[in-house]
Amino acid sequence: MSELQSHFGADASLDPPVQQEISRYLEQHGASSGPPDRSGSLPRMTTTDRFVAKHRSAIRLWKRGRVKSLTDCMACHNSQR
Ligand code: HEC
Repeated sequence: MSELQSHFGADASLDPPVQQEISRYLEQHGASSGPPDRSGSLPRMTTTDRFVAKHRSAIRLWKRGRVKSLTDCMACHNSQR
């Protein structure tokens, strides 16, 4: 939350009051358990166990070059269902 101006290569800065409110929420409700990631790599949604388990076929297509990026969630998840 303190480095949002360089968030995965994008500027995700927030107005200070908004940032404070979200920080407070995360401190109170965020998970603090679980082993720390010592791999040194950035945490990525697309490498979490749940994402991988739910996206086996999508990951197969991505590895074959049939899907450009797994992070383009909206390419497969259309909000109008
Ligand atoms: C290449 C297509 C594709 C992309 C890109 C993709 N998804 Fe999915 N996603 C799927 C498919 C297909 C399923 C359904 C898997 C199933 O039903 O078991 C799924 C399932 C899910 C589920 C599980 C829903 C449930 O019922 O539990 C979540 C959450 C989800 N995707 C989030 C994301 C997010 C967040 C991103 C972007 C970071 C993303 N997906 C990118 C195709 C994709």
